Amino acid sequence: MKAVIPAAGFGTRFLPATKAQPKEMLPVFDKPTIQYVIEEAVASGIDDILIVTGKNKRSIEDHFDKSFELEYTLETTGKDSYLKTVRDITDLADICYVRQKDQKGLGDAIYCAKKHVGDEPFAVMLGDSITKGPSPCTKQLIDIYNKYEASAISLEAVPENKVERYGIIDGIEVESNVYKINNLVEKPSVAEAPSNLAIMGRYVLTPDIFDKIKDTKPGVGGEIQLTDALNDLDVIYGNTFEGKTYDIGNRLDWLKTSIEFAMDDNESRDDLIQFMKEVTNGV
Ligand code: G1P
Repeated sequence: MKAVIPAAGFGTRFLPATKAQPKEMLPVFDKPTIQYVIEEAVASGIDDILIVTGKNKRSIEDHFDKSFELEYTLETTGKDSYLKTVRDITDLADICYVRQKDQKGLGDAIYCAKKHVGDEPFAVMLGDSITKGPSPCTKQLIDIYNKYEASAISLEAVPENKVERYGIIDGIEVESNVYKINNLVEKPSVAEAPSNLAIMGRYVLTPDIFDKIKDTKPGVGGEIQLTDALNDLDVIYGNTFEGKTYDIGNRLDWLKTSIEFAMDDNESRDDLIQFMKEVTNGV
């Protein structure tokens, strides 16, 4: 299976940090966000990845490309562990790029992948969210796709005051954590939201989604919304992911995610706890 990572957005929620650098390259603790996404794809058995980029996104390509000068310098100065880290990034997967010419929304960005994907099911992984769980989020969706032979998306229950930020579904639970979806609404008001189950940035889609996107009119924000196209699929399932999804598209959630990931690092944990005690001054 191939994966498509849309990474063409302006990152407006994170300005000014994203004025000249992609939000997908913002580091979470010690790695750019998009590297975590690609590692999740690889852990899910995917090694053919298409990144949909736009203006100011060249550093994404550089990050996954071979860097001769850097490797040469690390090699000749005996910095072997850094050399391995740098080489491992290049060897992660086969990565191709396509540019979305106009910012017409997530649906349009996915449509840019039509030629690369062809007539096969494929994964969509948003480039500004990271997941962590007992098994990779995308792998869980692939398992549902294989079982039900239908598109599958990952869901998470969100507090009522956050439903306006997400696509929200209406569905019936058909087995533990799996929903057959009747309806999807992009960024509804609290009053309009059919539930508090939000779409969390991971999808496994059947290729008929491309025809649905083609027929989708601009929706919320004047953009071609993937959520609206998903609504036109005959069958679609949702999985409340066993694990946690981190949305790094805004500064506070990004910072919290970095701290949480640093706490998993044995070399940093104790220092970080001490530092947090100092800065919070016992609050
Ligand atoms: C997109 C999708 C939305 C989904 C969200 C998850 O919105 O359109 O349905 O819930 O990602 O992060 P965006 O965050 O790009 O506005």
